Amino acid sequence: MGSHHLNHRLATLADIGPLRALMDAAIGELQKPFLDEDQIQASRTVMGLDTQLIEDGTYFIVEVNGQVAGCGGWSRRATLYGGDQTPGRNAELLDPQRDPAKIRAMYTHPAYARQGIGRRILSLCEQAAKQEGFSTAELMATMAGEPLYRACGYHPVERIEDPRGGAPVPLVRMRKELV
Ligand SMILES: CC(C)(COP(=O)(O)OP(=O)(O)OC[C@H]1O[C@@H](n2cnc3c(N)ncnc32)[C@H](O)[C@@H]1OP(=O)(O)O)[C@@H](O)C(=O)NCCC(=O)NCCS
Repeated sequence: MGSHHLNHRLATLADIGPLRALMDAAIGELQKPFLDEDQIQASRTVMGLDTQLIEDGTYFIVEVNGQVAGCGGWSRRATLYGGDQTPGRNAELLDPQRDPAKIRAMYTHPAYARQGIGRRILSLCEQAAKQEGFSTAELMATMAGEPLYRACGYHPVERIEDPRGGAPVPLVRMRKELV
């Protein structure tokens, strides 16, 4: 990060405005190598901000020089992916002995992509989930997210297409043992 000053903290409800702007930019820009315009528009229905994660205290922000540069979280609840607006959510609590913790809503601002912010947030999430007794992490990756998760030790479990946004959005469910 050169001379940048980089720090992390938990998100609060006061961060929602800047978080939405960051996600909007990340979804629109960083998926371009992987999806066509219709799929990018459709993906806005199936991804985005989940305020439950903020309320649960499981959503991280990385700031560079005081500006929100990346975000991402984890969850002890059943919902695997999606924003507040996505249908079919399930707030049921998971059993750490039996269920994988969920890695959720990872976004880096395009101006800060490929500088290790995603990797750093993912590692914070894994540590926190492990501290709560989870031994596995699971997530639903976009095509833009898959290379990050592969680089961090996740393996693909299942490939799906989510049609709910109007165009089929390819996604891959991935897992990692938290050793
Ligand atoms: C996925 C995302 C969060 C990655 O964030 P990031 O901060 O750029 O990731 P990092 O810099 O920590 O990347 C770590 C490693 O992952 C891999 N990686 C990340 N993005 C990649 C890409 N676009 N192509 C190839 N490899 C990539 C590389 O191995 C990278 O290490 P390197 O830069 O030293 O080669 C970001 O691209 C994003 O916001 N995408 C749009 C939203 C999205 O799809 N989020 C994922 C939802 S599941």
